Amino acid sequence: PRPILLTRHGESQDNVRGRIGGDTALSEAGELYSEKLANFVRKRLKSERAASIWTSTLQRTILTAHPIAGFPKIQWRALDEINAGVCDGMTYEEIKKNMPEEYESRKKDKLRYRYPRGESYLDVIQRLEPVIIELERQRAPVVVISHQAVLRALYAYFADRPLHEIPHIEVPLHTIIEIQMGVTGVQEKRYKLMD
Ligand code: F6P
Repeated sequence: PRPILLTRHGESQDNVRGRIGGDTALSEAGELYSEKLANFVRKRLKSERAASIWTSTLQRTILTAHPIAGFPKIQWRALDEINAGVCDGMTYEEIKKNMPEEYESRKKDKLRYRYPRGESYLDVIQRLEPVIIELERQRAPVVVISHQAVLRALYAYFADRPLHEIPHIEVPLHTIIEIQMGVTGVQEKRYKLMD
């Protein structure tokens, strides 16, 4: 059986400030994670010559992949974080204060809520379809370095979790979720590389 390794990018400067979306680089902790991840991948996939590293088109995932050597890297726009539209770059506090109706509608139905000029979780789930088809087709291991909302959706697909749970699944930073697809079904392991 071949593993799929799912991870968020290392902590970004926006993560530190609590800002959603954006395209910032990594914090110091995020850079440290990129090194630890590279070590982990080197050991875990050492004899897997056909493995590949998939990132989004956003800096924080590309920088997280950077220290990983020896495997081809592929950027997918479909792996970019949920587009928060007019709320991109805001903190949750700012949204609550400046756009209380938006804040409340999202809280009420996080799965279906679509940011003005942005996306909903359902939109993200839909745009992930080609990525999922390609992941299913791969015979070699894949390391997917992406973002919170996107990884919730990908994880839910492989772990067979219901739609309504997706926006609430825990996908912490600096943690690798390893999924193994074997004949007996799907197995999962989590590796927390740092806090
Ligand atoms: O805060 C990090 C982040 O990836 C944001 O860029 C994104 O909007 C958010 O998480 C998605 O999580 P939630 O759907 O819980 O707001």
